[in-house]
Amino acid sequence: MSIAKPIPQHVAIIMDGNGRWAKQRGKERTEGHIAGVETIRTTLRAAMRHGVRYVTFYAFSTENWGRPEAEVNALMELLCKSVISETPDLKKQGVQVRTIGDRSRFSEKVQFYLNQIEHETAEGDRLTMVLALNYSSRDELRRAVQRMAHKVATGELKADEIDEQLISQSLDTAFMPDPDLVIRTSGEQRLSNFLMWQASYAEFYFPEVLWPDFTEEEFARALEVYASRDRRYGLVK
Ligand code: IPE
Ligand code: IPE
Ligand code: MG
Repeated sequence: MSIAKPIPQHVAIIMDGNGRWAKQRGKERTEGHIAGVETIRTTLRAAMRHGVRYVTFYAFSTENWGRPEAEVNALMELLCKSVISETPDLKKQGVQVRTIGDRSRFSEKVQFYLNQIEHETAEGDRLTMVLALNYSSRDELRRAVQRMAHKVATGELKADEIDEQLISQSLDTAFMPDPDLVIRTSGEQRLSNFLMWQASYAEFYFPEVLWPDFTEEEFARALEVYASRDRRYGLVK
């Protein structure tokens, strides 16, 4: 009797190691980010092949604004360029693009392209690709708490009504299930302010490979590791 291998519904990825990848090759860090975009493409393909429904990519953290201005600018340019060039193909493949994070801090141009790709791909029903942009867990929680506090102040919400479900529904991620698997490339083993509430019961996987070198095989390997884990949720067998 064969038992179906459990496939994560939602895989969240901390794409790390672009800078080191570039440095190893004597290139500018930006070159690493450019190479990393190609990895997003291949990872999406692999995810679709395996039947994963949601893939979240940590693309720019609230802390990343502190990087050198030239790198931040290059990342913004790359974001706009990629959104423009990838939209037709994503649409064709049935990928719906969403974002999490506070978009209001981005330039009007970046916001325009993000609105555009969300609008253009809204009908996609094969896989949802979520870009975490100007995202951090603490900032997301701060914004959610502020909104709830306002509702309490206006009498729209009672303090006692704030339960775990309402908190989840108040986060940027309200439209999707919690991640089942969190992958961070490049060997670093930390969350860096990513999906702290949502990843409470996620499985974690930390391959050594740098993000631009992450392949479809690496993705398949991550799913195998996931399938071998015993998710107990605090219970006993
Ligand atoms: C991840 O790669 C991409 C972003 C954070 C935008 P890094 O740029 O952090 O690469 P390393 O960690 O310096 O190698
Ligand atoms: C986390 O990577 C953020 C993204 C992948 C967008 P960083 O490279 O910025 O995180 P730290 O500095 O190693 O914690
Ligand atoms: Mg890094």
